[in-house]
Amino acid sequence: MNFSDHLLSWYDGNGRKLPWRTTRDPYLIWVSEIILQQTRMEQGLVYFNRFTEAFPDVYALAKASEHQVLRVWQGFGYYSRARHLHRAARQIVEEHGGVFPETSREWIRLKGVGPYAAAAIASIAFDEAVPAIDGNVYRILARLYAIEQHMDTSAGKKLFYDLAMCLLPACRAGDFNQAMMDFGSLVCKPVRPDCPNCIFQVQCKAFRQSAVGQYPLRRRKKPARVRQFNYFCFYTDDLQDGVSFFIQQRKGNDIWKNLYEFPLLETKHNTPVEKIAAHPWWQALFKDDVVPLLEHDGITVRHQLTHQRICARFFRIRLYDALKEKLMQQYLYVNRETFDSLPKSRLIEGFLKTWLSMA
Ligand code: ADE
Repeated sequence: MNFSDHLLSWYDGNGRKLPWRTTRDPYLIWVSEIILQQTRMEQGLVYFNRFTEAFPDVYALAKASEHQVLRVWQGFGYYSRARHLHRAARQIVEEHGGVFPETSREWIRLKGVGPYAAAAIASIAFDEAVPAIDGNVYRILARLYAIEQHMDTSAGKKLFYDLAMCLLPACRAGDFNQAMMDFGSLVCKPVRPDCPNCIFQVQCKAFRQSAVGQYPLRRRKKPARVRQFNYFCFYTDDLQDGVSFFIQQRKGNDIWKNLYEFPLLETKHNTPVEKIAAHPWWQALFKDDVVPLLEHDGITVRHQLTHQRICARFFRIRLYDALKEKLMQQYLYVNRETFDSLPKSRLIEGFLKTWLSMA
């Protein structure tokens, strides 16, 4: 039996039963591929069900506001994926009458769809014979052929693409791609691969060299960027209206774009509270008014993202009326329910929950 027949018969008996595998609906397959990128399956499944329940087809997604989409996505991270899905849905409805592209070359033109996703969607939904090369495929091939090249050079990319293309069967390309994903997740795992039960033991060059752990070759990772966020949680607490907050919507080309948060001062270093109180940004906020006192040190929360580490400090500041009027000119003033309903990063959501449960 050749490699692909062997793999497909393994997949028929051992492949995971996943909701997007019982359909050929390109919408569901597209959503699943975008959600599953760099995501653990258990978490991906939760968000896939949540997202497709809220937006069951491309029309429902196109009709929704970005705000609604981000709310459903909240807590999942990588918010640009949600924004891109939303924009592409509008593009499909408005420019293509709701008809999905069929080839990977067309899919890649849609917002947020890269070479891997385009190949995965076109092969799974439309049987196009293209290999979808993700980390699993890279690892399996690197071990199978004991490849010393990295994927991150153009020569490396071409080598892995050509090899995958050679192994790809003429029929069942979508199943083959998903079989590689499952085989990489269940057997040829990054750590503690299940070599004793591997159907490719005999062919696997790395196994024969007792060197499975050495493949794929690792690149030294760039250290994560560390950022210092100082959040100022200005609030009022009236007997009549309860707690209300001053917040802003994040803009610019940065993490958490369009999500809501407290007024923020980003500093280069972990800045002592006295320096923050003397910072021009803080002083300018109040100009001639009495500047409120900062809680000593505030509350520190560390938040890890894929390529960044956020060291966030939250200062809670209860405002008196004159300052309230002043801040209203610069920030949104919202009550608790409104803030609850707005999309936020997991960092803000978590802090808010802890703070309010302490009150
Ligand atoms: N990861 C990304 N896409 C996947 C799929 N279709 N099946 C399993 N794992 C995946």
